[in-house]
Amino acid sequence: MSTVRPSRNSRGRSGIFRTKTVEQSIRDTEEPEHALKKSLSAIDLTVFGVGVVIGTGIFVLTGKVAKENAGPSVALAFVLAGVVCGLAALCYAEFASTVPVAGSAYTFSYASLGELPAWIIGWDLVLELALGCAVVAVGWSGYVRSLMDNAGWHLPVGLEGTHEGRFGFDILACALVLVLTAILVLGMKLSSRVTAVVVAIKVTVVLLVIIVGAFFITGSNYDPFLPDSQATEAGGGVKAPLIQVLFGFAPSNFGVMGIFSAAAVVFFAFIGFDIVATAAEETRNPQRDVPRGILGSLLICTVLYVAVSIVVTGMQKYTELSTDAPLADAFKATGHPFWAGLISFGAAVGLTTVCMILLLGQSRVFFAMSRDGLLPRIFSRVHPKFGTPYRSTILLGAVVAVLAGFTSIDVLAELVNIGTLFAFVVVALGVIILRRTRPDLPRSFRVPFVPVVPILSVAASAWLMLNLTGETWLRFAAWMVLGIVVYFVYGRRNSRLGKADRSVPPAPTSI
Ligand code: ALA
Repeated sequence: MSTVRPSRNSRGRSGIFRTKTVEQSIRDTEEPEHALKKSLSAIDLTVFGVGVVIGTGIFVLTGKVAKENAGPSVALAFVLAGVVCGLAALCYAEFASTVPVAGSAYTFSYASLGELPAWIIGWDLVLELALGCAVVAVGWSGYVRSLMDNAGWHLPVGLEGTHEGRFGFDILACALVLVLTAILVLGMKLSSRVTAVVVAIKVTVVLLVIIVGAFFITGSNYDPFLPDSQATEAGGGVKAPLIQVLFGFAPSNFGVMGIFSAAAVVFFAFIGFDIVATAAEETRNPQRDVPRGILGSLLICTVLYVAVSIVVTGMQKYTELSTDAPLADAFKATGHPFWAGLISFGAAVGLTTVCMILLLGQSRVFFAMSRDGLLPRIFSRVHPKFGTPYRSTILLGAVVAVLAGFTSIDVLAELVNIGTLFAFVVVALGVIILRRTRPDLPRSFRVPFVPVVPILSVAASAWLMLNLTGETWLRFAAWMVLGIVVYFVYGRRNSRLGKADRSVPPAPTSI
């Protein structure tokens, strides 16, 4: 398609836009000291994908969003968010099948856009995965406490986390993250086995909600399917979605705009399919299995989400849905506490894998950034016995445990969404750029209709970002500015690629 001569080495560009060649990325993974074990198959990856994708989003946010933003049309919000993720998934699959090394969007960007954009995306991914993990741990703790309450057990108030403005330390969330960190340090194989069992329980529970719940649907609950738009009390300013501030829309819930705001929130329910790509380096046949794992897990989850949201809004009027445990509470409301208990148990079990895989993903991104010298290299030594990047896993696990102990969910979930959507934008742009700069690379999976599909992906992700609040945009900007400072103070000087560039005279630019 392009007449541009392919770049063969990394020294074609200098400074912050120097790129690491795909061949060099693959070579780095083969150094024994930094090599991860290759043990995963397409099925393992799909299990990982489903394991991380189904979580707090469907178990908790469905009720909140139906009640506050969209009514029964929350099902459409799931379809919209699924389409945005589907477009991004095609781009992730092409990149992952071309650059099969750890690091996900970070590595892909390093091979296509240059070092600074790669650093920015890696820094962004650490935000997505670390905060996402903390959010899910807090959600898990809520379900466990609800089960404990059923049994008449109660934690001291100060250890239940922060609720309704009352500050507290969430000891359960913190403990969960620490235990999962230990499991990950012990090795992938152990954790993928545990994951497979837990994913089976979680999917069974979701299917139970759909199949059993279908018998308790009352048709009148779907009326109105798309409630009329209502002005919100939140008003304008930083609390309103940026799109409403920019284009002067009156802030409102429900109606067509409500579906978009709902989609920007339930997007959280899809986060995680991209993490399948971070395990590319540990996959036996990444070229074939990574695209299968990514697209397969996304498809399964979209179908389940739409079905669950249709069933739940049919069981209970959207205005009455619970915002803490909507799936279980819809069964209680229809007079079926046994099913409610079972679903709460399955949700609590299922959220553990979400947390674990988010932790795994972030430690792998951190590992890849450290291996490239953008973060201290001490974090990329693998454990001599377990073959895992134990230092980065332990460091990040400790940070997330503290965050999960002290954090409240709402604000963080939006911050996770904006960070992830930003990564989608960069990856889609990366597909277009890499097709032009390296048309020669073998791609076992190719996005159809390039550049149309990647451009649609950029537009769709940017649209959802605009439906998040101004406040979220400000927090995100602050995190990214901090990242750029860290890059110029540490990463730029210590970059492995930069050091190689300085020791060899630069070759002529080939693009
Ligand atoms: N998609 C994951 C969840 O819903 C992060 O919890």
